[in-house]
Amino acid sequence: MLVGLDTSDDAAVYKIDNDKAIIHTIDFFTPVVNDPFLFGQIAATNALSDVYAMGGEVLMALNIVCFPSDMDMEVLKGILKGGADKVREAGGIIAGGHSIEDREPKYGLSVMGMVHPDKIIKNSSAVPGDILLLTKPIGIGIILTGIKGELVSSDEEREAINVMSELNKIPGELMKGLGANACTDITGFGLLGHSCEMAISSEVTFIIDYSKIPYLKPAERLAKMGIIPAGAYRNRKYFKNFIRYLEIVPEFLEDILYDPQTSGGLLISISEEKGKILQEKIQSKGLMAIIIGEVIEKCEYSIILKK
Ligand code: CO
Ligand code: CO
Ligand code: CO
Repeated sequence: MLVGLDTSDDAAVYKIDNDKAIIHTIDFFTPVVNDPFLFGQIAATNALSDVYAMGGEVLMALNIVCFPSDMDMEVLKGILKGGADKVREAGGIIAGGHSIEDREPKYGLSVMGMVHPDKIIKNSSAVPGDILLLTKPIGIGIILTGIKGELVSSDEEREAINVMSELNKIPGELMKGLGANACTDITGFGLLGHSCEMAISSEVTFIIDYSKIPYLKPAERLAKMGIIPAGAYRNRKYFKNFIRYLEIVPEFLEDILYDPQTSGGLLISISEEKGKILQEKIQSKGLMAIIIGEVIEKCEYSIILKK
């Protein structure tokens, strides 16, 4: 076992021999959007993401399904189709799965990937001098809460769905090729929570420029209305003590920084020189890569927030 539970990393890694290690991960959740196909795509993209966050490639996935017996089977077909579509795009194969009856539908994948044992990208190996790159905008959790309250236009919903169903494959492969030092994907703990985890396990401090952080615009309007998922409050309560605020962060933005993400982007820690190349390469594929901060020697706080 090369990576296990101890470092709060994204997936477990098991070494087969000197050239091969297996990455294993599982993720599933309840529907976040009404369209079954799109929900399947999002859940699969989210589950596949942990393999990319570790610098791996996707080999195979199994479906995990909970489904009510009295619900239209066409819904389930749509979900599975969406999931299979994303596994195919990832270059992997779907090899069956398992389903049980449940009152509320749930869907996700158990994913097997592969990585060279010397090239595993953990979340615990950020180095002072690195820069921090983020590959997707945040604010998804707030928008999903807004969708439930019917406070989001269909265009805004579509934009959020596009972000959630975008595979982290391209940035993952490019950062592996250049030799990133550390990476995690941004999910339930939000940008600041996952940044904290990475800084703590790497024994460094992150300086994050909150004015650089990309977020989906409707999240600002919704946060100002108080449309904030419970997870954002939990994240703030838990992680706030690790964070030093050098300036007063606007309240709506603070909510967005702690907002739990569904199928968020990668947060990559990489040397400045390689990081600039990585940023250009990702952007040249039409994808997002924004430098949001830098890594320094460990000080009293895990994160210093400034503008
Ligand atoms: Co993860
Ligand atoms: Co995960
Ligand atoms: Co079974």
